[in-house]
Amino acid sequence: MTESKLKLKEKIFYTTPNDDRSRMRTVANNLILHIHPTKVAKPALRFSYTWGLGGISSVLVLFLILTGVLLMFRYDASVENAYTSIQYLETQVAFGALIRGIHHWSANLLVVTSFLHLIRVFLTGGYKKGRAFNWALGLFLLTLVLAFNFTGYLLPWDQLAYWAITVGTSLLSYVPLVGTAVSNFLLGGPEVGQTTLRNFYAIHVAVLPAIMILAMSFHFWRVRKDGGISQPETGERERVEKVTTIPHLVQIELAATAVLTLVILVWAIFVPAPLEALANPSHPPNPAKAAWYFMGLQELLLHMHPLAAMLLPLTLFTGIALLPKLDPQEDNIGIYFRSPKGRFAALFGALLGAILVPLAVLLDEFWLDLPGLFPTWPTLITTGLIPLLATLAMFGLIYGYFRGAGKLNHSEAIVGLFSFIMTSFVVLTLIGIFFRGANMALVLPF
Ligand code: HEM
Repeated sequence: MTESKLKLKEKIFYTTPNDDRSRMRTVANNLILHIHPTKVAKPALRFSYTWGLGGISSVLVLFLILTGVLLMFRYDASVENAYTSIQYLETQVAFGALIRGIHHWSANLLVVTSFLHLIRVFLTGGYKKGRAFNWALGLFLLTLVLAFNFTGYLLPWDQLAYWAITVGTSLLSYVPLVGTAVSNFLLGGPEVGQTTLRNFYAIHVAVLPAIMILAMSFHFWRVRKDGGISQPETGERERVEKVTTIPHLVQIELAATAVLTLVILVWAIFVPAPLEALANPSHPPNPAKAAWYFMGLQELLLHMHPLAAMLLPLTLFTGIALLPKLDPQEDNIGIYFRSPKGRFAALFGALLGAILVPLAVLLDEFWLDLPGLFPTWPTLITTGLIPLLATLAMFGLIYGYFRGAGKLNHSEAIVGLFSFIMTSFVVLTLIGIFFRGANMALVLPF
């Protein structure tokens, strides 16, 4: 250890008097410095760079573990008792409704914050220069977050839970090659029942938490190993100013945690977690919708052959995983949108997605009828291959436009295309949530 590092360590650990409080402080400092390095780059502390999204997601996971363990004391994972155990918890147990509310809202918020964290990392090129592995690990974490939400959804055993999981597992069975096997394994029978509930409970409270804790620890370790979060390149002569983690980084983290705790607490007090009527397998609600974060997929299924509706997101997911290879340019790391031109591309891409997707949905709903036009062609072609190829061609056109007419470099054009794809996905999800009514017909939400 260099002399300056030794001095720093001494300053942090040993300059306080040897009483109980200072010993506790030493232990706390030690713990913090197991997660963080002793010093961090000053520019990395800017809130407007990370928006604290990785940290907020981490705190939400902590809330989920704490409240989840408390819920386990009262929850009964049997078809006969699951619903009544939640009712009992809501009405008879001190702070039961609040604990369930915090668990429910933290889980939903985690989907949003980890998605936004992905967007932030993408926009600042945080997957480049040795960070490709952590990017892939992040995608794995996002999948885990969705799996947590999906398995947790069934546990209250109310109408919402039963039918969302019935729709969700049927979506899953469309995934090529493995879909049906995974769906059968999860269901444990021909339909959602006692085995499904037991499977989901075991996966939700044992399997996923173990994998999540391991994957998160690895994710944090990689950030540290990669030299902290991404930063713009500095010239040889310029040195990035560094500050000590304690107190500079820790005080920001504590402040953000305090605000987040307050927001979740107040929200959970005033907006209780939903609980509908007891699940009734013979009485589906109309419309029967998937959980909100899968509504984009469900919307896609209304327009495309199931195989195409699953191949498209899988192709995009693979493309996103391969971004470090597809966009290797390194001189724009740590700069939002890569450049002012990239910012324009992102805005243009988002605008295009927000306009074209509703238009395409309306067109398909009320006008375009390919199976009617070509009645002898198999639907795999009319509602599968043709829309899939048209969508991929659209991506190619948008990229080509940015490169050609927009005169953007490859990396900036990818920003524009990514922005188009993500906005389209969000718009599809919003249409599914708010604009689909009985029989999944298009309706106005007001
Ligand atoms: C449970 C979900 C997640 C948690 C708790 C988490 C946590 C964190 C934290 C605390 C950081 C450092 C500070 C920051 O950038 O905010 C970070 C950085 C990072 N995360 Fe995540 N993350 C999660 C999901 C993801 C996802 C979905 C991705 C993308 C696919 C991702 C990719 C990365 C990368 C590449 C970095 C380094 C970024 C850079 O150097 O700028 N993470 N994560």
